[in-house]
Amino acid sequence: MNKLTEFLNLLDKSIDENTFVRLTLSKNRDRNTLLKKVIIKLAIVKKKVKFSVIYREDRKDITKNFDLKEGKMIIENMLRQSFQIANLFTIQNDYVLEIKGLKNHIKIQKPTFTSLPKRSHDKLKEPLTTQINYLAELGILDRVGRVQKDKGDKYKQIQKFIEIIESLIRKNKAIKETNGLKIFDMGSGKGYLTFALYDYLTNNANLKSEVVGVEIREDLIHFCNETAQKVGFENLSFEKGFISNYELSKADILIALHACDTATDDAIFKGIQAEANLIICAPCCHKQIRKQMNTVPPLDSVTNFGILKERQAEIVTDTIRALLLEASGYKTKVFEFISTEHTGKNVMIVAEKNTDAPKNDLYLEKVKKLKDQFGIEFHYLEKLLGLYTS
Ligand SMILES: C[S@@+](CC[C@H](N)C(=O)[O-])C[C@H]1O[C@@H](n2cnc3c(N)ncnc32)[C@H](O)[C@@H]1O
Repeated sequence: MNKLTEFLNLLDKSIDENTFVRLTLSKNRDRNTLLKKVIIKLAIVKKKVKFSVIYREDRKDITKNFDLKEGKMIIENMLRQSFQIANLFTIQNDYVLEIKGLKNHIKIQKPTFTSLPKRSHDKLKEPLTTQINYLAELGILDRVGRVQKDKGDKYKQIQKFIEIIESLIRKNKAIKETNGLKIFDMGSGKGYLTFALYDYLTNNANLKSEVVGVEIREDLIHFCNETAQKVGFENLSFEKGFISNYELSKADILIALHACDTATDDAIFKGIQAEANLIICAPCCHKQIRKQMNTVPPLDSVTNFGILKERQAEIVTDTIRALLLEASGYKTKVFEFISTEHTGKNVMIVAEKNTDAPKNDLYLEKVKKLKDQFGIEFHYLEKLLGLYTS
């Protein structure tokens, strides 16, 4: 029996004996493909066991469910045609299949996992009753509150965002005590999160709030303003504006979710200028630092690989953002907003006004050291804050 068949039998056996944890396929023969890895789990969908297959591309994950029979054929084809390594994790052993031309090997190793994962799909949270109306208008739910086809990820993102807001506000005395909050969403797009924020603050937290979405696209502003009127969100409005020159006099909360590249920095800067109590952003693409990075050994070994350079640039860009926020008097946290299974853009930076005196020099020194390490001349936010002079 050849090793591939033997490996597929081990996969069958682990499913039959209920020892299967997960299977991963890696090392694609086609180096130019976007598809870097495949992660296969078991999920129970409509009371049937299925393979839940996550296709991991450079910047996003695509998840598809397959019946076991069809899924096995797909796995076999991917091993024959694309991937050279397969790791089968079971609670008895880990099995590693290495495909090297005609010479295939199976290595047996100690199990990484000693217990089985939960098989069921993440349950989608029930929508709040106030959410059904506007989420139906925005095409996320139907009229009775069921999530529309292909809108599950967006729905999860909205619910997660509200969970984060809820916990931030619960702990923030200044926000809870402000009568008449002024909130801006920079680069509000189709307004999913802007509507969710307004609804949560007004209808659930009972905080009187005026929320403004700022957006460059006129069609989106028109659509969002019409929808806000339709669902009776009186103090929610959308305005045409370019983040960098939008006039912001007072802001209690500023959010910028998935604003492209340096638009995130423009938004952070606006928040700092307006002395917003809370600045929340989820950065999108990170081009500015990537273009400048000029590393020397040993870091050049990392940045010589395109994808690793990109990831490194993301990390450095967001680290410097967090340090500059700290230097500007904000307690800052960086965390995963939502699992990478649902979106590639999943880092969130939350900055809360710090009443203690900021230790600017300490943070600016850290920024300097990082820039030196990566051969970076300046971070765009540094320029905006007037902290960089060439
Ligand atoms: C990726 S979408 C994100 C939308 C929304 N914040 C969300 O997370 O669902 C980014 C939006 O920001 C807008 N945008 C990008 N740069 C902008 C700028 N400089 N000023 C205002 N809007 C901007 C785009 O038109 C787009 O609608």
